[in-house]
Amino acid sequence: MTDDIAALFVENRSYPPPADFAATANAQPEIYDQDPDAFWERAGRERVTWFTPFERLSEWNPPYAKWYIGGTLNACYNCVDRHVEAGAGEKVAYYWEGEPTGDRSVFTYATLQQNVVRFANTLKRLGVRKGTPVAIYLGMVPELPIAMLACARLGAPHTVVFGGFSAESLSGRMNDMGCEVLVTQDEAWRRGRPVALKQVADEAMASAPGVHGCMVVRRTGGEVSMREGRDVFYHEASAGESDDPATCPCEPMDAEDLLFLMYTSGTTARPKGIVHTTGGYLVGTSATHHHIFDIKPDTVYWCAADIGWITGHSYIVYGPLCNQTTSVLYEGTPDQPDKDRWWEIVERYGVTVLYTAPTAIRTHMKWGPEYADRHDLSSLRLLGSVGEPINPEAWVWYRTHIGGGRTPVVDTWWQTETGMILITPLPGITTLKPGSAARPFPGVEAAVYNNEGKEVPPGAGGYLVLKRPWPAMLRGIFNDPDRYVETYWSRFPGVYFAGDGARIDADGDLWLMGRVDDVMNVSGHRISTIEVESALVDHPEVAEAAVCGRADAITGQAIVAYVTLKGGLDGSPDKLAELREHVAGKIGRIAMPANIVFTPDLPKTRSGKIMRRLLRDVADHRKLGDTTTLADPAVVQEIQARAAAGDAKEE
Ligand code: WTA
Repeated sequence: MTDDIAALFVENRSYPPPADFAATANAQPEIYDQDPDAFWERAGRERVTWFTPFERLSEWNPPYAKWYIGGTLNACYNCVDRHVEAGAGEKVAYYWEGEPTGDRSVFTYATLQQNVVRFANTLKRLGVRKGTPVAIYLGMVPELPIAMLACARLGAPHTVVFGGFSAESLSGRMNDMGCEVLVTQDEAWRRGRPVALKQVADEAMASAPGVHGCMVVRRTGGEVSMREGRDVFYHEASAGESDDPATCPCEPMDAEDLLFLMYTSGTTARPKGIVHTTGGYLVGTSATHHHIFDIKPDTVYWCAADIGWITGHSYIVYGPLCNQTTSVLYEGTPDQPDKDRWWEIVERYGVTVLYTAPTAIRTHMKWGPEYADRHDLSSLRLLGSVGEPINPEAWVWYRTHIGGGRTPVVDTWWQTETGMILITPLPGITTLKPGSAARPFPGVEAAVYNNEGKEVPPGAGGYLVLKRPWPAMLRGIFNDPDRYVETYWSRFPGVYFAGDGARIDADGDLWLMGRVDDVMNVSGHRISTIEVESALVDHPEVAEAAVCGRADAITGQAIVAYVTLKGGLDGSPDKLAELREHVAGKIGRIAMPANIVFTPDLPKTRSGKIMRRLLRDVADHRKLGDTTTLADPAVVQEIQARAAAGDAKEE
């Protein structure tokens, strides 16, 4: 990593904002002149409707922040009801596209409200009240944002678990949060095939005894088993329920009341429940969404992430709806039925803003521009990227082939923990450099520190830190205050440690360089090396495992595992497949290693510590770093030879 940070990055291309874009942009250059407190004070008043106005802007008791103190509000009211009351009931909130072609529906703000009210009334029948923790395990169906908003309406905190996670991951999260109710669906459509979710949910509930009610949304109509007294079909349970908002008023919540938990991987085997509260989160996500994506009344906005991750929470559900945006919601994969599905969607709805991840851009790049060329993409005026560093080639390809060589591309840096975008260009102001996330959003203060906690000068690299609290920041790790302090606030006193390497260039623009800890980033998803190692070691035949990421042209990083089997046994292709499935069963398919290298031993220091740095060198075919501290230097040579043989087979 230090090598990467030190590496001189030469990228000379730059793109000033188009004049017409700049002239009408929501964010004008003066936005950077505002005092941070004045900026957030104003955003708090402008972006959100309060039941009771806040009395004080913020309070900072390191490492705990509070924002919009004394204010009460409801997230669902801000995202739905107030727009209907303001006469925008006929405006489209979501154009929903199912994966099977022709499967479409439209939700206006008025019909969204009716759906949310009916859902909330039905949740009440399962005992959900203010404060009841609810787990949501759904694919990208309209009921997903509807269920989240219904929870918010009732004041019931939710945790959404991405549909690709295993039963064990789901039960772990439900138990940690103390969930009492689970919302799931029979099956989800994925790449043309139904994927059983209720079945996984059944397995999860078997080890989550606190869950006493399960609401099942029917999507495919596939066979599911329903347990009497616990499981109900939504379409049946909701049949007699009212969709009149007067039957289910929005619960007034304190600005600092829990809105949701989002679990994310850290450097241990146990995911952490990131705490997001109501007021600051809503102001932060809506303010960033408004300025960064230049949202206008006629914007058709599409964030192609999954709502199961933070990007979907902040920039498909809460931010856009709070801003009364018209959005597209797409259920499936980009290659169903063909590789031009995304571009067909952009053309059909006249999408003006598209927000996606570098891994998706690189996939389209690999497929070739001919799929985009089949469609009229001239409605697009702005593109966004998130989730991992975007390589300049992918950035330029995106702007050229999707943006028609006209659109700004905003590379937005943030995290599950930050809740909102923190480092980003502003499309009407910033001269863009492919691969740079530019600078802190107004009201945000970032810096790059060296090892000693000193700010580095322009041109140098180090660790990204945030120097002042921001409204949507995490309020802690659920049930684990020590880990909160240790992970984010102990590396450098008084500042938030993001865990990312960064460089600052001569103009003061930031270049993000990837994680500096044992967290991999596969297709924009954070996966902990230790979590995958624990899953492997859980297999009865595995003695030891070490996991690291290697560079991958499409997914950013790919997972490589080095495994020692018990009894000195050698691995086989069957064993490899079995271990990959084992990891899928423990964590989910997203965590399956791309390759497993079987080895009689792992490189260790004399004190027995696995030297992951060397394994990363092997995985990336780099010259090995210092090996003098190894207990047995021959081990790495053996691993190198085996890895090389494996690579040859893969190609
Ligand atoms: C990485 C996703 C470079 C980074 C919103 C961060 C990025 C982690 C960018 C958070 C970007 C996200 N450039 N790296 N524009 N955006 N990252 O919690 O390593 O899933 O720490 O949140 O993704 O991932 P998370």
